[in-house]
Amino acid sequence: MCGIVGAVRRSEPVLSALIEGLRVLEYRGYDSAGVAVHTGEEVLLCKKQGRLANLEAALAASSFAAGSAGIGHTRWATHGPPSDANAHPHLAGGGQLAMVHNGIIENHQDLRVQLLEKGVEFASQTDSEVLAHLFAVEFAAADGDARAALRAALAQVDGYYAVAFLLSTESGPAIICARQGPPLVVAQGPGGTYLGSDLLALLPHSSDVVFLEDGDIGVLTADGFELFDADGNPVERAPKEIDWDPTEANKGPWPHHMLKEIHEQPDVLARTVFDRMDEQAGDVVLPGLEDEALRSVQRVQVVACGTALHAGWVTRYAIEELARVPVDVEFASEFRYRNPVLVEDTLALALTQSGETADTLAATRLCRELGARVLAICNVQGASQVREADHVIMTHAGPEIGVASTKAFTAQVAAGILLAIRLGRANGALSAERAREVLHGLRSLRFQMEQLLTREKCEHMRSVARNHAAAKGFLFIGRGINFPIALEGALKLKEISYVHAEGYAAGEMKHGPIALIDPGMTIVSVNAPSPLADKMRSNVEQVQARGGVVFSVGSDQATHDLARDVCSVPPTLEILSPLLNVIPLQLFSYYIADQRGCDIDKPRNLAKSVTVE
Ligand code: G6P
Repeated sequence: MCGIVGAVRRSEPVLSALIEGLRVLEYRGYDSAGVAVHTGEEVLLCKKQGRLANLEAALAASSFAAGSAGIGHTRWATHGPPSDANAHPHLAGGGQLAMVHNGIIENHQDLRVQLLEKGVEFASQTDSEVLAHLFAVEFAAADGDARAALRAALAQVDGYYAVAFLLSTESGPAIICARQGPPLVVAQGPGGTYLGSDLLALLPHSSDVVFLEDGDIGVLTADGFELFDADGNPVERAPKEIDWDPTEANKGPWPHHMLKEIHEQPDVLARTVFDRMDEQAGDVVLPGLEDEALRSVQRVQVVACGTALHAGWVTRYAIEELARVPVDVEFASEFRYRNPVLVEDTLALALTQSGETADTLAATRLCRELGARVLAICNVQGASQVREADHVIMTHAGPEIGVASTKAFTAQVAAGILLAIRLGRANGALSAERAREVLHGLRSLRFQMEQLLTREKCEHMRSVARNHAAAKGFLFIGRGINFPIALEGALKLKEISYVHAEGYAAGEMKHGPIALIDPGMTIVSVNAPSPLADKMRSNVEQVQARGGVVFSVGSDQATHDLARDVCSVPPTLEILSPLLNVIPLQLFSYYIADQRGCDIDKPRNLAKSVTVE
């Protein structure tokens, strides 16, 4: 949460690079935005509550163009409400230096008291500003040794941070940065040196990026960067070549990133799955996950958050079905604070788009401490989760910018199914013939997804959404492998439309939720060709008998016949049906949010990547 950018250029003004970086990172937080630029003589500051556009308007009205070194920030508020004063950067040292921070300083109150006693004046209510002044005090005491000052300041801090300071050094303006928890990436471009909390901000400048490790300190000048480890020793971190095209993060002609990303799903599925399939052998090829690595797996422990957790739930059904290995699924935020018991030969499975979700990282670290190997299904190259895992299956969704995850979800589910096949083939539970049947189904999915995304289908979903946009509440119900799709449908709707929506296992309706049913409620039924289809149908009948308005998604015609609105999906295997059923639900949420006038790509209070607790 929060986006950080920084740049030290040789001669060109830095402001446009900072603004372009912030534009790419705005999905990390959009409560306020700000920049600080070093002119060589002084530090100029501009920051504004609200979207980046407010900052740009303020900059247009100022004479802020000069200066070739600077830092910028887009904020997701933790301490102190969104306001101009609480926006970053924060100034310290009599305005001689500026700081941006992502993370939480847990002992900020104690530190604030100590600094106030030294006569420091605060301009904001944030925890972050404490760090700015702490550094300024140490910098003054360290006789200009910025690294010594930063180490001394950070030694007093409890918490998590990605932090960057803009300051003057003997050789001119520079940036010094440090990481403990949230990510920081640096790169050398043709015109200077760049910093970001997310590699997307760096890709326009270089495709070779270097990730700081926890405890690292980085010093950026126009000529390059130096890294130092937690003990202060110079350290080389191997650059990672990123093969994303930076223009992929652009919205292009689409009205929203979310709609663009929904429509990318057929290609994302193909990129994630097709090259890994070996239909002849009835198997999949996952480097590092050959028979030897998987044969002994006795149990799988899924840890993830949000939408990624729902992909983990689908993966559970797939693994148990195809590989006959028991799977537990848990919120990473709960798992990490329990005293969990893992049996021997547990494989911990982390699903994460960003690879930087704090709870997922902490839960997998705990799994490792308990003796498990860690497999990550991740989308962002070089992310912490990728670097820390024993095994990785990368999803090839490309940059996902919409805060509501869509294409990353289907890619995670597809990767989970590949894992289930590989595990089943490795441990002998899955025949080549059955594997071939699933692979054949996967091969057809790209075209079937496209059928759900035609102009005509989208128009249909827009009109279905119109019929339900005024409903007072929504209940999404499903069974079996489509129960997690009901959870995901409800999450999509509430996060971007701000209406109450709940996902429920259809068999649980009579244990409470059926009491909610009245003509103001929409019930979204997610069905699939399965032995459970009849049971779903009777759940829908019971809802309908109580006045609930039904929207039926799936391929079961008998359920469709009961519904007010229908979205028919092409027939596929039950195990693959989540990959199709979720698409109309994504469109349903999108069009409801659109009709309600919501800010679809930047829903209130949310941010794309939850890098702090
Ligand atoms: C946030 C995002 C979700 C995402 C979840 C986990 O809540 O809005 O879309 O599913 O974090 O993120 P991860 O990067 O670990 O998949």
